[in-house]
Amino acid sequence: LNYHVPRTRREILEILLKGLLRLEYRGYDSAGVGIDGGNGKEWEANARSIQLIKQSGKVKALDDEITKQQDMDMDVEFDVHLGIAHTRWATHGAPSPVNSHPQRSDKSNEFIVIHNGIITNYKDLRKFLESKGYEFESETDTETIAKLVKYMYDNRESEDLSFATLVERVTQQLEGAFVLVFKSVHYPGEAVGTRRGGPLLIGVKSDHKLSTDHIPILYRSCTLLNCCVSNVLYCMSPDKKSVEYYFASDASAVIEHTNRVIFLEDDDVAAVTNGRLTIHRIKRTAGDHPARAIQTLQMELQQIMKGNYSSFMQKEIFEQPESVVNTMRGRVNFDDNTVILGGLKDHIKEIQRCRRLILIACGTSYHAGVATRQVLEELTELPVMVELASDFLDRNTPVFRDDVCFFISQSGETADSLMALHYCKERGALTVGVTNTVGSSISRETDCGVHINAGPEIGVASTKAYTSQFVALIMFALLMCDDRISMQPRRREIIQGLRVLPDLIKEVLSLDDEIQRLAAELYQQKSVLIMGRGYHYATCLEGALKIKEITYMHSEGILAGELKHGPLALVDKLMPVIMIIMRDHTYTKCQNALQQVVARSGRPIVICDKDDYETAKSSSRTIKVPHCVDCLQGVLSVIPLQLLSFHLAVLRGFDVDFPRNLAKSVTVE
Ligand code: G6P
Repeated sequence: LNYHVPRTRREILEILLKGLLRLEYRGYDSAGVGIDGGNGKEWEANARSIQLIKQSGKVKALDDEITKQQDMDMDVEFDVHLGIAHTRWATHGAPSPVNSHPQRSDKSNEFIVIHNGIITNYKDLRKFLESKGYEFESETDTETIAKLVKYMYDNRESEDLSFATLVERVTQQLEGAFVLVFKSVHYPGEAVGTRRGGPLLIGVKSDHKLSTDHIPILYRSCTLLNCCVSNVLYCMSPDKKSVEYYFASDASAVIEHTNRVIFLEDDDVAAVTNGRLTIHRIKRTAGDHPARAIQTLQMELQQIMKGNYSSFMQKEIFEQPESVVNTMRGRVNFDDNTVILGGLKDHIKEIQRCRRLILIACGTSYHAGVATRQVLEELTELPVMVELASDFLDRNTPVFRDDVCFFISQSGETADSLMALHYCKERGALTVGVTNTVGSSISRETDCGVHINAGPEIGVASTKAYTSQFVALIMFALLMCDDRISMQPRRREIIQGLRVLPDLIKEVLSLDDEIQRLAAELYQQKSVLIMGRGYHYATCLEGALKIKEITYMHSEGILAGELKHGPLALVDKLMPVIMIIMRDHTYTKCQNALQQVVARSGRPIVICDKDDYETAKSSSRTIKVPHCVDCLQGVLSVIPLQLLSFHLAVLRGFDVDFPRNLAKSVTVE
């Protein structure tokens, strides 16, 4: 949304499409844009009509569709302009132009809206609106919002109803999770955005000094609503307020324009009118912070660019020597073997007194919990449960005030994990976030936490976030026992393991060519079994998940201890089997599993310690990784599988960063 920063329509579309490209990892089955439709000289007259362009497929398809539009003057200049755009991951209704966003109120596009989330009462709303004569064109829940806003506008009791108040009334009728941005021909040059259960931020770009560094909230009960200028953000300039606002669901879409952002909270309604940003809430409740700070982000555009790599996933795999250093930076002192986690310091005593730890997460983040459970149990001497968020909720798992619940999430926005967080908070447990996204819902709503600082992760298949979550949880375990004399030798051993870990990761990454050759032998197979136990069971699960996600091959992570209870029936001389056998306390048992596989004519490929000649004798092939302290070895054993899945996907001709049917950040249940 630009105010007195003249922009041509071409530039505006470019900004919107680039923003969508940066967010494409969140969803990419269809995309759309809504902009001012007029071609005249007066921006306000131009904004009295709205043009919608939508297309199935990725953002590139939308871009191609835009170039086909003949009736739009690309050089017309706007002094004030609002455009909204969306890239979709289908929940209700198949990917198609009509189901993609923006959704509209009517054929003349009076109100348009973009939406992330799910409206759970949309069927009732739709029935109500149909009874009032509204005709629906899509199968989406979002269209009910577009129609509802028009219904409420048409039935308003006073002429001067503000856009913000209108949206506020609409959201009061909605149930479920939503992040919404509205545009209307009735409110030219005005934008309103709101959220409940999903992220929304506003980037502010201005050459002038901002009037404030925090924006106090306007509560509806405030009688001075419209004249309360101190509650308004605007830009100090002698003449006009030249400023641009960028609403986005994450910072990667706005960072090339500005690093000053405001993170909205649930039920905030943010409105930009006449260049001024105001944030409204219906009423103040206990614990509400009465202002929203304008934060300066440290993120660089370069961090979200692919550089010389063919995909984000490949770049992120190769970044791991640095990303684990960033997770440890300023927190682990290798000289005096101490660990400091600033985000936990006020709560660590309480955590040490707790009755059990519960790690709750989804997907790869869940595997990080499985991977570190044993060392957490060892160093904290507490019972540790590791839970998939959805199952944890399905079971109505008992949670008590003296439990400490960890929410591990790269994005910090996963709906299942977020709901589990609310569930645990209601039951009085202490909540700890382990996330990679500053300002995310999980990082804000937990009592305390650790940012893993792995840098933005774009590839849908998570890689560097996993190894950083792994390291962050180990740092937590070390912190928990820092005053236990009996634990000191073990602590020192692990901390010294952390010191060498980045170099060892580099050594594993140098196996890339060898793994590419292995992929060339395997890529036409239908299935891959991955077996291991102890510290490496998580590696098996995570490796199999990577293969499923991006190669669409069947893959299963199998606990080697369970081999004889079923999976052994799958083994023959044709079935590809990968085994992980490291020199730790499970070594002999893993050797037994290897012999059982070989005895059934299996020809296992084994990931093992680089000097383990005995294992090499029984394997058809080995991938040799350097040795590290047992509880950190999983960071090294997973990397060959990350690389293998990457090469398999490339050889099978699939888009590594955008696997079909998946999204990076799943903000719906
Ligand atoms: C999605 C992604 C996975 C990710 C999972 C949990 O399914 O595709 O890669 O592991 O969500 O995401 P989170 O952001 O909570 O770690």
